Order: sequence, then structure tokens, then C-alpha cells
Amino acid sequence: MADIRVMREHLLPPPPPARRHLLSVRDLSRADVERLLATAGSFAQSLEREVKKLPTLRGRTVVTLFYESSTRTSSSFELAAKRLSADTMSVKATGSAVDKGESLRDTALTLAAYDPDVIVIRHPQIGAPQVVAQATRASVVNAGDGTHQHPTQALLDLYTMQRALGRLEGLHVAIVGDVLHSRVARSLIQALALVGARTTLVGPPTLLPDGIEALGCELTSEIDAIAAADVVYVLRMQRERMAEGAAYVPSLREYSARWGITPERLRPAQVLMHPGPMNRGVELDPRAADDPRSLIGEQVRSGLVVRMAVLYDLLTTGPAPVPAAVAEEVA
Ligand code: CP
Repeated sequence: MADIRVMREHLLPPPPPARRHLLSVRDLSRADVERLLATAGSFAQSLEREVKKLPTLRGRTVVTLFYESSTRTSSSFELAAKRLSADTMSVKATGSAVDKGESLRDTALTLAAYDPDVIVIRHPQIGAPQVVAQATRASVVNAGDGTHQHPTQALLDLYTMQRALGRLEGLHVAIVGDVLHSRVARSLIQALALVGARTTLVGPPTLLPDGIEALGCELTSEIDAIAAADVVYVLRMQRERMAEGAAYVPSLREYSARWGITPERLRPAQVLMHPGPMNRGVELDPRAADDPRSLIGEQVRSGLVVRMAVLYDLLTTGPAPVPAAVAEEVA
């Protein structure tokens, strides 16, 4: 019996390595975040070279599957995969078989037939990325599911803050606006707590959800509270997620007057962030968006290197000293 077992062990292929996913900031430890940000920093150096493509993920396939509109997330994931030499496939629900009634699971199974290594999915339903993870053998990245999570946005925001302010531990971030409908806010609050930063949520009481303090933040409706923060992080008013007929604010004009961010409301040493897309003139005065204190363009640039780091990290084994490995490859 023992001999047969030994023979079997030699004849059977080794088990496939465990797949890893990025579905939520809850999947990450502080060490994971620090490793990903360091890897993103290494990729940022590589992008300063004339030839920006690295051979790292040659022969791998990355699929992006978007059921909601996107400019930044979809384009940066596609470019990130291409910069790492992976093959890419982009599927948008509009114009696909989803229009003919195909279910998420069947679409995932269809794409799985091409044996992708990573599926990046954005979907209006909370939990959709888990459905794809269960239906396929790919690593799955959540690019936004309903009002739940947008973990790569949180990572790129941390990366942007660290580059601009030199640290994350002890930073004070005021997140202003429509927290109720914001997956960006939920992911960012958790990520800031993970790295030892402080978060204050600021907005009308109707847009600050009950119990959100449990994620590790304080709440206030006083806009003057932003004065104490190092970073003023403005959220979009997500009118597409607001129930029809529900009045969360008396009017957008009144919202802008009470909670809109103007250059005058920012201190000289503060920085301004917004995940985009912006409603200029609603949550953000156009002059503030274009102010030298704005890091909004920097956030978009960070999205590329952070998403390169996420793809690289998911498709390489374990928490090796990644930045050094990348640096060697780049050298
Ligand atoms: N911040 C963000 O997710 O932007 P997109 O909707 O353009 O991807």
C-alpha cells in the first residue's frame, strides 16, 4: 500500500497553487498593504523609463468585466495588465450577451473557458465578485460592487497620500459628502484604520449611515471639522444610487453651500482628493478641483502603478520581497 501511495505521489501533478483574490480591504493585512504600496513604487520607477513594458506577466491573461460605467478603473487595469505584458480582454455588459439575459454566473463560466488568470469585475450587486470567484478558477479583483467595496481605489488613495505627505500612520483624513452610497468611503475607512490613520466623516446626517463608526471613524455634520484634517477627501453625490423620490438634501444648491469644498474652505497645508468622476459645482468648486492643493490627477496616475502591483502580487507566489524582485527585473 505504501509503495502505491509513493507511486501516486510521483505520478500525479502537483496541486495547483491556492488562488488569491482581492474582494475587500478586509482581505488585506497591514503587511499586505505595505508590500503592495512598495511594489507600486517600484513600478512607478519602471514607468520613468523610455520602454515602459515589463515581461513579468507574459503568457498570463487578464479579463476585465464591467457591468457599470467606468473610465479610470477599467482603463488603468487594462493598461496595467498590458504594461506587464499580459494578454487582455475587456467585456462591457452593455453590448454583450448580458443584454440577452445571460446571468452573471453563465457569463463568468463563458469567460472561464478561455482560462483567464485574473478576472476584474465591477457590478452593481454587492457580492457579485464572490459569484465569479466561485464559478471560475481565476483570481478575482473587485473593481466595485454596489455600495460595498472598491479595494483598489483605497490602495491607490493610500499610495497617493503616502507619496504626497510622506506617511500614513497618524494622518487625519476628512471624508466629505455622500458616504451612504459610497463603496469608496467604506473601503477607504477600513484601509486608513489598517495603517493607523484617523478618519472623520463629514456630511448631512441623511448621507452618514447608521453604525458606520464601527469601521473605525468619527462622524460630524459640521463642515468646519475639515480644518483639523491633513487630507480633505471629497465624495461624489451618487445620484444614480439614490432612490427615486428620496430627498437626502433639500437641494443640490443648498448641499453645495453647506458641504461643497471651495478653495477658501481649505487650509494652505491641506491636500484635496476625490476618487472621480467629479460633479464640478456640486460637491467641489471647480477652482478647488484645479487648485495646486488638489491631488486628483495624481490619484489617477497612482491607479496605474497600484493596479500593476495588485495584478503582480496575485499572480506571483506568496509575500516574497517583491520590490527587490521588481527592481532587479527593471534594472
Ligand atoms: N474612481 C473610479 O472608480 O472611477 P471610474 O468610475 O471612472 O472607474
